[in-house]
Amino acid sequence: MRLETKERLKTPLRTLRYKYWIIKEKIQGVDFTTQVNLDQIGIAPERGNRYQASVPRMKRLFDRFGITDRDVFLDLGCGKGKAMWYVAKYPFGKILGVEWSEELVKVAKNNFRRLGLSRCEVIQGDAGQYQIPEEVTYIYMCNPFPEMVVKEVMERIRESLERKRRKITIVYGNPVCHDVIIDSGLFHEVKDWKNNKVYTSTSAYSA
Ligand SMILES: C[S@@+](CC[C@H](N)C(=O)[O-])C[C@H]1O[C@@H](n2cnc3c(N)ncnc32)[C@H](O)[C@@H]1O
Repeated sequence: MRLETKERLKTPLRTLRYKYWIIKEKIQGVDFTTQVNLDQIGIAPERGNRYQASVPRMKRLFDRFGITDRDVFLDLGCGKGKAMWYVAKYPFGKILGVEWSEELVKVAKNNFRRLGLSRCEVIQGDAGQYQIPEEVTYIYMCNPFPEMVVKEVMERIRESLERKRRKITIVYGNPVCHDVIIDSGLFHEVKDWKNNKVYTSTSAYSA
């Protein structure tokens, strides 16, 4: 198939996939996928981006990590919890999510209750102010917020690493603030795959 034809087919196929997921989730009594705009979330544009769920390919990155039950996953800007649900197939000891919108937190909690996923825990708050627990080893961000908040998050990660030196892996989907992560001096890039970047903490901070 020619490249232009493939490109032209992408949008209707994505729309079809989106509709399929929504119908499937309705039947299950959950809602991970419907988008939510910024005005509904009630966050200023300089502090947050809208809710748009991650797509399944993000979980493929985790296949190579050798996750154990000592690992803890944290999604900063988890929304309705789709990425948390994707990674629940791995043996993480805990799967945490921080989300600004109280409404989305309610939806995420309901999703996990319906699916019986007790390892998944959602916390309401601003990711830039969230104290990152020392047990966290994987941090996921799917372009949830602009530079101002990413900078604050890097400070929260620095504090967490100073409290407990360890290897942290960041998976960053649609990594528009890549430079902020590198400029923090805490992480180096180890992989770039289909608009996702993976970073690990530098030796100065890894245990
Ligand atoms: C692109 S969605 C990511 C969804 C989810 N991580 C996933 O992969 O399915 C971005 C989410 O970040 C949340 N958000 C934006 N700014 C935030 C902030 N400062 N603190 C916490 N959550 C925030 C939005 O409400 C939205 O739900």
